Amino acid sequence: TEAWGPDDDKPRRFAGPVKVRVPSKINLHLGVGPLREDGYHELNTVYHAISLFDELTARRGDTLTLTMEGEGAGELALDDSNLIIRAARALAARGRVPAHARLHLRKSIPLAGGLAGGSADAAATLLACDLLWGTGFSREELAEIGAELGSDVPFLLHGGTALGTGHGESVSPILARPTTWHWVLAIADGGLSTPEVYRELDRLREGPWPPAALENADELMTALRQRKPEVLGATLANDLQPAALSLRPALADVLKAGYDAGAVAGIVSGSGPTCVFLAADGAHAEQVAAELTEAGVCRSVVTARGPMPGARVT
Ligand code: C5P
Repeated sequence: TEAWGPDDDKPRRFAGPVKVRVPSKINLHLGVGPLREDGYHELNTVYHAISLFDELTARRGDTLTLTMEGEGAGELALDDSNLIIRAARALAARGRVPAHARLHLRKSIPLAGGLAGGSADAAATLLACDLLWGTGFSREELAEIGAELGSDVPFLLHGGTALGTGHGESVSPILARPTTWHWVLAIADGGLSTPEVYRELDRLREGPWPPAALENADELMTALRQRKPEVLGATLANDLQPAALSLRPALADVLKAGYDAGAVAGIVSGSGPTCVFLAADGAHAEQVAAELTEAGVCRSVVTARGPMPGARVT
């Protein structure tokens, strides 16, 4: 069932379990400006939703509970600090309804991997609980609630390929001819803390390099329209990459292994430590993935396609 009509009208209310699938994201361009007074950095980013999904199911309940399986089970706290619980409570407060639901997460997006897994789960929760509780918020309203939970939540409600500004929460879709891009992800052992990576970038910027200027994404946006992997590959850029490499020098070996495996291009995804490689097509992605696995430089390797829609009822 598609919960959202083509003109983004009010979603229906669901009596039974609501199951929502949400993608992860990579940043094709991540331009980071100086640190702002509110503790965030100004961004110019191009978000791209890819086919590595988490799935959240919301059922009626007498209290608010959360269980999970998959990536990070036993590691991820399921208490009030969890973004899913915080999202459910924020939505209930805004909709003036009791925050009663039994939530279950099936996780495939690695924790602290630079793929916005936490924001993805918050986005899925907002959509699922809105339908379960019949609070009837528009996608824009959910995005507004989500922006306070994580910078990437509004994008993960929208999906596709989009320009992110502000601290990432302000999203506008990029209209391009439909093209599917093929990616290979090198998933690392252990995560990187996003605030720490930003702090490391600030520290590096106290030296003469890298520059603190906020770069725009114009070149990448032009490349997106040409639909040629080698053109897009040449414009992929991530200002957080030097900081992630500084905190995790072994990522340089992962990037090199990806190029050695024949990838068109490779960058660190967001704040890392996941590295993402562009392939020419689906078959090429499988070939790069097999060689990268063989190189033994990361925990696991997965292929993914993009762009994908944002959080959706399945
Ligand atoms: O919004 P999110 O929860 O993803 O941000 C986590 C942390 O990452 C922030 O508290 C901040 O330290 C850092 N951050 C930043 N600038 C941004 C986004 C995140 O400094 N634009």
